[in-house]
Amino acid sequence: MQSVSEIKSLRSQIKAWRQQGLSIAFVPTMGNLHNGHFSLVEKAKNLADKVVVSIFVNPMQFGATEDLDSYPRTLDADKKGLADIGTDLVFTPTVEAIYPNGLEAQSYVDVPGVSMGYCGGARPGHFKGVATVVTKLFNMVQPDFACFGEKDYQQLQVIKTMVKDLSIPIEIVGVPTQREVSGLAMSSRNGYLSDNEKDTAKVLFQALSNAAKTLGSGNKDFANIEQQAKESLLQNGLTPDYFAIANAITLKPATLEDQQLVILAAAFLGKVRLIDNLQVSL
Ligand code: PAJ
Repeated sequence: MQSVSEIKSLRSQIKAWRQQGLSIAFVPTMGNLHNGHFSLVEKAKNLADKVVVSIFVNPMQFGATEDLDSYPRTLDADKKGLADIGTDLVFTPTVEAIYPNGLEAQSYVDVPGVSMGYCGGARPGHFKGVATVVTKLFNMVQPDFACFGEKDYQQLQVIKTMVKDLSIPIEIVGVPTQREVSGLAMSSRNGYLSDNEKDTAKVLFQALSNAAKTLGSGNKDFANIEQQAKESLLQNGLTPDYFAIANAITLKPATLEDQQLVILAAAFLGKVRLIDNLQVSL
């Protein structure tokens, strides 16, 4: 596996592959890789001749009070894991390389509709930071495909909308959420949790599963289902941030006519913010 941190070196390798007629699939990450990330790499390997993974903890998508400084950085282990599963190139740029003029006057990409509410509401500026860095990485790697996890469902919809709205010639591929045996969605932030807390955290998936079952049985009293779920989270030690049934594409609140739904949830366990979702087809 090649390991590259200079944009110039990345571009010359991409150019060489293109001259050989090879296709490229890209997986952007912030590192501290787990099986969720690796499942994206496996998908990417099936899609294209060459797989590029980026590891960049993007300051632009963290709020002032968020965990940018303490975000887990495990570069050596990440590189070993990526090499073991057959990644072709890992790109690890510095903050200075990505934002040479700082963040203040940085041009940005904003995807207004789907960024609103849920995580976008709770984390102002977050999706602007995500859309901007992903655009920059797309312009550096210029892949045919890019893989994103359904775990971050709103992020996936933001990126899908962005490439459509801005005519970016990259196919965005969503990959199902990888879970622990308990149902807890794998996440770099799970490392902040003790074993006991992990046991509490799985309640989020249970609440989503219960709500999905209720919807599947034909109950369309969305407000009531949401309310019941929030109460059960509270009773089981989680503080709900949002629990919402939405149209799976627009992320607008679900209507009685919608057939493709997504249940989006975020909850706090102490200071750790957990997110998860489940898609439901009626
Ligand atoms: P990060 O949190 O490192 O996640 C990188 C990719 O892995 C995202 O597409 C995310 O949805 C996916 N992922 C994380 N946990 C997963 C799981 N349990 N199952 C399946 N996929 C999972 O998301 C980001 O980084 C950043 O916002 C980024 C897109 C890299 C932009 O900075």
